Amino acid sequence: MKRVSSAILPVLAIDRKSAVPLHRQIYDSYRKAIVGGTLQAGQRVPSTRILATELGISRTPIVNAYAQLLAEGYFQSQVGAGTVVSRSVSSQLRPAASRDRRPTKPRIDAQRFQIDECLPAAVENGTWHCNRGAFCVGQAAFDEFPIRVWKSLVTRHNREVSANSLNYGHPMGSENLRRAIAVYLRTARGVSCDVDQIMIVSGSQQALEITTRVLLNQGDSVWMEDPGYLFARSVFALHGCSIVPVPVDNEGLNVPLGIDRCPKARVALVTPSHQYPLGVTMSAARRLQLLDWAESAGAWIIEDDYDSEYRYESMPISSLQGLDGHSRVVYLGTFSKVLFPSLRLGYLVIPSDLVEPFLAARFTMDLCPPTFFQSVLADFIRQGHFSRHIRRMRSVYAQRRGKLTESIRQTFGARAELSGGQAGMHLTLVLDSIDDRKIVDRAARQNLWLTPLSPYYGSDTPRTGFILGFGSTSSPEIPGGIRKLHALLE
Ligand SMILES: Cc1ncc(COP(=O)(O)O)c(C=O)c1O
Repeated sequence: MKRVSSAILPVLAIDRKSAVPLHRQIYDSYRKAIVGGTLQAGQRVPSTRILATELGISRTPIVNAYAQLLAEGYFQSQVGAGTVVSRSVSSQLRPAASRDRRPTKPRIDAQRFQIDECLPAAVENGTWHCNRGAFCVGQAAFDEFPIRVWKSLVTRHNREVSANSLNYGHPMGSENLRRAIAVYLRTARGVSCDVDQIMIVSGSQQALEITTRVLLNQGDSVWMEDPGYLFARSVFALHGCSIVPVPVDNEGLNVPLGIDRCPKARVALVTPSHQYPLGVTMSAARRLQLLDWAESAGAWIIEDDYDSEYRYESMPISSLQGLDGHSRVVYLGTFSKVLFPSLRLGYLVIPSDLVEPFLAARFTMDLCPPTFFQSVLADFIRQGHFSRHIRRMRSVYAQRRGKLTESIRQTFGARAELSGGQAGMHLTLVLDSIDDRKIVDRAARQNLWLTPLSPYYGSDTPRTGFILGFGSTSSPEIPGGIRKLHALLE
């Protein structure tokens, strides 16, 4: 026999002391819920037996109310699904007025944060992540991911799910995963860390949110690379921080200019291994200047090391954190680029003395990270699949990057100013004096997913151009995509 799944119990206002008979109260409650749109067309209603048990009354008034609702067409019986809200009646009955009363603007104190600053237009429109195709930024080559290995690990861990595994996990994250990450970071990224300093988070974005809660107060100044990572700007804006754009040149963040503009900033956010979006590597001299400034100003450095696994012309550059002799760096890493972003797993390496406040901030936010995929990932790393994947993808991306650079040079010639192709999964094509935002919209209509450069600037003198992702753009797609882009600019 086919089993009908249990329906969600609706809220029914039943008053046993009322003079109104119970069957009438049940009928009225359902009718009101359908007319008001709380219960929607096709939605299952609980069986009379289950509802009687839940309400603690006999079945008779419920059977009578259901019979009435069926007779009047509010309910209908559907073979295999039990009783459902009638499809024909619900949309006609819902009065527009009840929807129209909903406020159209959020009723919050607009002084506290500007929604526009926290929610970039690209996110609202969904262009940055919903689409797949040529030049999408932030997407790995998903079709190259060792999905069979991953699935077999997921299946194994699924088989091992027990009553014990349903409980809360540790707020810092799974010990196994943290151990695996610590070994990786010490070995491959030159990060100086113990397992106790590693906190598992749901990606860099949560890492930034937790770090901001701990280190910054409303009104504090933050140095941000200019141009810099938009979604980090969102976090600082939400917390009412004052963002100080510090220009990036071919040595990375210009530290002396930062000191000139705001010597007393509390935090500097940097992407030293592969600056986002220009892609430059911070020079050794600038790294030392930055660490010196942080130590003397009592400031903190947030190092976002989001995609440094992939470096094409040299060995990966060691982390800034590993150079720091004064524990002034909070290091963030993510599996979004190196594996895939829907995993929502990343990590923080926290200076030892700050572990407790970080733990407190994370605890108030989500108590602990979800446990299942942490276990899968720990095995993926420990069994060597992670390093194998990185090695393999480095050569896939190197080929795509080569094709992209070549196509740009051939199509744009001397006009092309390319930046940041030494590492990662994107490079930046700087083309001054164009309306990059407008071109992005036009390109999207042709299935070309460009990211404009100018919105990444916090200063009044943005450069224009495009950030071109090559992670999920196959080599054969690249020349045609670049030709399309060139035609759009003509
Ligand atoms: C500079 C930078 N940091 C971090 C991330 C990754 O963020 P998350 O780990 O929240 O997916 C990205 C993704 O595009 C990025 O560009």
